[in-house]
Amino acid sequence: MLKKLFGKKKSSNKQINTEKELLDNIDRSRLPRHVAIIMDGNGRWASGKGMVRSAGHASGVKTLKTILRAAVDLKIEAFTVYAFSTENWKRPTAEVDFLMKLFADSLARELDEMDELGIRIKFIGRLDGFSPYLQEQFDNACRRTADNTGVRFNVAVNYGGQDEMVRVAQALAEDVKAGKTLPEDITADMIESHLDTSGMPPVDLVIRTSGDMRLSNFLIWQTAYAELWFTDTNWPDFTKAEFFEALVDFSKRDRRFGGLSKKK
Ligand code: IPE
Ligand code: IPE
Ligand code: MG
Repeated sequence: MLKKLFGKKKSSNKQINTEKELLDNIDRSRLPRHVAIIMDGNGRWASGKGMVRSAGHASGVKTLKTILRAAVDLKIEAFTVYAFSTENWKRPTAEVDFLMKLFADSLARELDEMDELGIRIKFIGRLDGFSPYLQEQFDNACRRTADNTGVRFNVAVNYGGQDEMVRVAQALAEDVKAGKTLPEDITADMIESHLDTSGMPPVDLVIRTSGDMRLSNFLIWQTAYAELWFTDTNWPDFTKAEFFEALVDFSKRDRRFGGLSKKK
């Protein structure tokens, strides 16, 4: 009996497992408007192969290119990835230095193609924490793609959700000090207008790779009602097929936003 059931499950899994079949299974009318990805597990991927952690980060850039391309093809409105957190400075200097160089090199290499694909790039986070050279690179990419109308691609660097809230609080306090508003008049919309992601839809779907089930200080305001999707796959091994699997799963979720199900 068990064997029979197991056999059945195995064959039905196989049936829907190919990339194309998963893609066909995506209900385009129920796609997330904003997908956010915590690209985790680069180090574990590299260690598992007896390589240095940096090799995992380099390989992770290739995965990002593939998944970003899929987001473009699906016309996802906003796509935000966590590339470096405010806490990641705690890592060894050599790893941090490697990441900084990887950001600069990858951006220089990929910018033309991203621009051609109509991608609008934005770097979110406390950008003044980076070298003037990198800040200039980030700024140049944003300016160059500002008039594009395709996917809004946000790269979170030196980003922390709590740090973003601190920056929002400081901006609002400045507004109060300047007499532009009163504390009692502060609204959720005003907070939204000061976010790094201001003007973009809230996050609908968070994907985190590599098995840990936490947000690690990512987009804490924007994910208030996000659906969460986790996989054990390390980021460098994450595929388009798995991305589509997350989207199919998302399309089946019953999002009630505190109300009652519309399904019944
Ligand atoms: C995510 O992979 C990338 C960054 C945080 C920059 P990790 O480097 O955290 O990989 P693990 O979690 O140690 O495997
Ligand atoms: C989150 O991953 C940050 C990025 C993916 C850039 P971490 O590896 O830094 O998160 P923790 O330390 O496991 O929570
Ligand atoms: Mg990690």
